[in-house]
Amino acid sequence: MGQRCSDAAAVISFASGPGVLPPEVLDEVREAVGGWHGHARSILELPFGGAEYTAIQDEFEEDARALLSLPDDYRILLMQGGAFAQFRLVPLNLLRPGERAAYIDTGLWAARAITEAGEVCDVAVAARGCGEIPAVQSWRLPDDAVYCHVTGNETADGIQFHAFPDLGDVPLVADLTADLFTHPLEFRRFGLVYASAQKNLGATGLTVVIVRADLLGRTRAEVPAPLDYTRQAGARSRVNTPPIFSVFVAGRMLKWLRRQGGLRLAAARCRQRSAMLYRAIDDSRLYSCSARPADRSHVSVCFHLPDAARDALFLAEARRRGLVHLEGHPARGGIRACLFNAMPEEGVAALADFMGEFAVTGAACAQHDR
Ligand SMILES: Cc1ncc(COP(=O)(O)O)c(C=O)c1O
Repeated sequence: MGQRCSDAAAVISFASGPGVLPPEVLDEVREAVGGWHGHARSILELPFGGAEYTAIQDEFEEDARALLSLPDDYRILLMQGGAFAQFRLVPLNLLRPGERAAYIDTGLWAARAITEAGEVCDVAVAARGCGEIPAVQSWRLPDDAVYCHVTGNETADGIQFHAFPDLGDVPLVADLTADLFTHPLEFRRFGLVYASAQKNLGATGLTVVIVRADLLGRTRAEVPAPLDYTRQAGARSRVNTPPIFSVFVAGRMLKWLRRQGGLRLAAARCRQRSAMLYRAIDDSRLYSCSARPADRSHVSVCFHLPDAARDALFLAEARRRGLVHLEGHPARGGIRACLFNAMPEEGVAALADFMGEFAVTGAACAQHDR
């Protein structure tokens, strides 16, 4: 990406997904599509039952386990359908009829998880936070909750759990679509985590589900086999054709992350990059951020200018500089900069510099136009 930044025509995408990829991973993908290990065959032509794909999946799993320090009794499932499908699949796979689960409502994505789960099970909303993560002391978990669902990072609202509570016998189930593999996790607190790959792990089409083995075996009969955690765990995620290309790309991202020093350093980079933007926000009276400072996200920085006209001017001027896909989520408006694993520091520095300049010149310009 350094290359792409130093190029005069460079364009830096702050999209909420797919995220940017490191240049060396893109080179590996190009080579693998062109011809696998120098052979005439492309990665796109590998059968999933063959030795080549088996090796790709084995390496993915080995690298994921090493990065996450994953205990042996957790299974990694490579599925499809995105995190959105998991909103309903989690209760369908973990709850028996009549059982219920607690949910923490922290914003747009938690609300969607609650709505989808509510179609198939009894949901108890144990706490709500608007622009903040509610303190764990305020959570009211029903005694019979089988799990407690949290959203690690609210990508549309710009808030994030920076520590996950230990709820004792009630396992956490977490949507980590925006933050899996961006920081270390104390896995023993979790019964299950899930994440779509296209933010921090590369290409679309892969959903990673990591589940504690003792929670398997509860899937309802109506769940189709490829979406059944128990069947997928038994078949090593090959109940049907897996998303081979996406698993390959995600595998290269995991190797890249290991070369970069693992998840402690990934977390430090996330903090440093987001701090550049929060500094630019706090140093100017033009930008405001509705997230409580302690809960501000390190991977999706959301802010507003004083009115929609100035948001639009900011976006247009940023685009002219090659800083693209900065629009906030359509339900929230404003500006959003997503800083997933492969976002280069120079890209964030360019945005922070632009924000500083715009706070002076752009704001004045908008005042003049009115
Ligand atoms: C926190 C969170 N959960 C779930 C989703 C939905 O992911 P997908 O579109 O892969 O289903 C998103 C998408 O941005 C997200 O940010």
